[in-house]
Amino acid sequence: MKILGIESSCDETAASVVEDGRNVLSNVISTQIEKHIIYGGVVPEIASRLHSENICYVVQKALLDADCSLEDIDAIAVTYAPGLIGALLVGVNYAKGLALGSGKPLIAVHHLRAHIAANYITHKELEPHFVCLLVSGGNTLLCKVNDYTEFEVIGKTCDDAAGEAMDKAARTLGLPYPGGVNLDKISKDGDKNKYSFPRPHVDDNPMDFSFSGLKTSVINLLHNSEQKGVSLDAADVGASFINAVTDYLVDNTVSAMKIAELDKLVLAGGVSANSVLRAKIKETANKNKWQLFLPDLSLCGDNGAMVASQGYYEYMAGHIADMSLNGKASENINDNYTKNIQL
Ligand code: KG4
Repeated sequence: MKILGIESSCDETAASVVEDGRNVLSNVISTQIEKHIIYGGVVPEIASRLHSENICYVVQKALLDADCSLEDIDAIAVTYAPGLIGALLVGVNYAKGLALGSGKPLIAVHHLRAHIAANYITHKELEPHFVCLLVSGGNTLLCKVNDYTEFEVIGKTCDDAAGEAMDKAARTLGLPYPGGVNLDKISKDGDKNKYSFPRPHVDDNPMDFSFSGLKTSVINLLHNSEQKGVSLDAADVGASFINAVTDYLVDNTVSAMKIAELDKLVLAGGVSANSVLRAKIKETANKNKWQLFLPDLSLCGDNGAMVASQGYYEYMAGHIADMSLNGKASENINDNYTKNIQL
């Protein structure tokens, strides 16, 4: 079964054809980084307009690369939430138009479910149950994946996401957007013990995350030193900050594995490309004798293949959207759009 996956939740216009949820036939990503770089971050209005300009070409190229036409596609999957609303609406409306015109089923895919599904493509043998640590630019989540479309949230961020904290730290250090990846690069030779950052704790649910205090502490460190005319070594600041963020992520993951009573761990989301996080989680998994699954680096960021993969499992579960499908800026991973299609 061939699914066309469409992604436009942030700054990547992407489309892909995936067979039976696991076999990628094409994966086209048009990134907007060049256009947002001068603003130091994603400008939502510009992102929406660029999606509008590029989506036709990206989808056509995905079909062409997969050596198929729309007739060969069995269903059209699209990210409907969460994300930038104007950006999401471009993909949602384009997918609705395609489904209506072709008479193919429309599948609404939750963006975080799609990030998890990137692992089904990387690891053909991977099946639920497992615990997933999902770290992206907009979300940080620890959940138990009971089935392809059944998720139990163990912990989530109360404020900023880990990626947001990395991006702000990078921006304050004067690094270009996208911050997280550049922070990772410049921190490789830094001293991770040079600066100490707080290890946050959320009283109401110790499994929840809070990154806003950590973010403020790195910003304060840099602003205070600037006011005093003292220059800090960016590599040391970056390494110390990444060390604090990743320690926090790994500590909560260890607790989540105990709560879930599972020994299979999956990492997902853009920040799962971080070299320190990957190394620490591998070491922790080895120590605890967990089975560990990391997404291929090419599938950590936003892409259409992960949408098509999750779309396959939503389709198998009978989750078909109708023509009233709308984009949603925020949506719990447990919610899903499951109305029947009426063409
Ligand atoms: O999953 P993603 O592509 O978009 C969302 O769905 O949010 O994640 C983007 C986030 C950004 O915050 C970016 O800075 C971060 O992932 N990121 C990284 C690395 N690569 C991407 N953060 C730390 N180290 C990296 N190597």
